[in-house]
Amino acid sequence: MQSSIDLTRLPRSVRLGRDADGRAELTYLDERLLPGEECFCSTGSWRCVVDAIKTLAVRGAPAIGAAGAAAVALWAVNEGARGAVSHGCAEAGESFLAELRPVAAEISAARPTAVNLTWATARMESFAKRLVAEGAAPGEVADSLFDEVLRIEREDEKVNRAIGAAGAALIPEHARILTHCNAGSLATVFFGTALGVVYAAAEQGKVERVFADETRPVGQGARLTSWELSRAGVPVTVICDNMAASLMGKEMIDFVVVGADRIAANGDVANKIGTYGVAVLAHHHSIPFYVAAPASTFDVSLPDGSAIPIEERDPSEVLPQPIDGVDVYNPAFDVTPAELISGIITEFGVFPPQDAAREVAARVG
Ligand code: MRU
Repeated sequence: MQSSIDLTRLPRSVRLGRDADGRAELTYLDERLLPGEECFCSTGSWRCVVDAIKTLAVRGAPAIGAAGAAAVALWAVNEGARGAVSHGCAEAGESFLAELRPVAAEISAARPTAVNLTWATARMESFAKRLVAEGAAPGEVADSLFDEVLRIEREDEKVNRAIGAAGAALIPEHARILTHCNAGSLATVFFGTALGVVYAAAEQGKVERVFADETRPVGQGARLTSWELSRAGVPVTVICDNMAASLMGKEMIDFVVVGADRIAANGDVANKIGTYGVAVLAHHHSIPFYVAAPASTFDVSLPDGSAIPIEERDPSEVLPQPIDGVDVYNPAFDVTPAELISGIITEFGVFPPQDAAREVAARVG
C-alpha cells in the first residue's frame, strides 16, 4: 500500500516559550473547540494552565504532564524568582522551594487519574531541590526549570516515535484498527502513543483504516481522533461506542490499540471509560488488544488497578439537560485487567502486561 501520511499537518498541543518581555508563557491548543476551530491560547499564569487541564482544553496523559511541568515553570519564572529578590541570599533558595511546594501540589491535583501529571510535577520539584542544594539562586533555578520543560517536550516526541516503531511491528498488512478515546498527537506534545503506533504503521503502508470509537460522553474519538487522523491522511471511520461488538463480530477489526492514563505494577491499565468493555469484546473475538504508553504512565507504587484513583466528572457531560429525580454517574476512566491485554507497547519495546512495569523500571534506572 502507498503511504501518503503527512504529519506536518498536525499541530503541537503545548509549547513553552517566552513573550517579548522575557516572561514565560505556555501556548496550547484549546481542544474543547475542535474540530470546529483550531484555536491556540497563550498564558503566563500557572493557574490558567491548571484551569485548562481541569476543563479539558489540554487533555491526554502525556500532554497534561507536559502542561503541568510548564505550569511549574510559569510560576517559577513569572512569580517565584521575582518574589525571591526581596530575600537575603542564604534563605532565598529555601524560601523559593517552600513556595514552590504548594504550587506543585495544586498543579498535580488538577486531575487525579493520569499519573503523568504527578510524574512531571515531581520531576520539576526534585530538579529544583537539587539546584538549590548546589547553591543556585532562585533566578537560575527558574531558568533551569524552564529548560527542563523544553527537555520534557522534546523527550515526549522522541519517546512516542519509539513507541510507534515498536508497535508498528505488530500491525498486520491491510490492518483495520480500532481505537478508543484519543491517544494521539493531541493527547501528547506531538505524535501520540496509540496513534503513534498507527502513524508509524501507516508510514509503512500497513493501515487500511482506523475505526474510532466516538467515546462518550466527551467525544474524544468522534471529535479529536477522527480530526487528527484525517489531517494526517489516515483513512478513518467514526463509530458509536455500542457498535464495536458488531464490527468485531463481522470480522471488520484486526487489531485494537489504546493509550493509558496509569498502569499499575501488575499490568492493570486505567484508560478512558469504555476501554475495559472494548478489551472484553476483543478477548471474546480473539482480536489482539494492545496498550501503548510511555514509562511516565507506570505507577509501580500501586500493586494493582483497584488502587488507581478514578476521576468523576460533572453530570452535565452525560446529561446536558438535567432531569428532576435522575442521578448521573460519570467516571471518566475504567481499569482493564492485565489478563485482557495482549501486550504493553513502550519506548523500550513490547512486554507482556504482567512484566511491563518491571521491565520498564529496569530500563529507566
Ligand atoms: O479525559 P482525557 O481526554 O484526558 O482522557 C484521555 C485518555 O484516556 C487517553 O487515552 C490517555 O490519556 C492516553 S493519551 C496518550
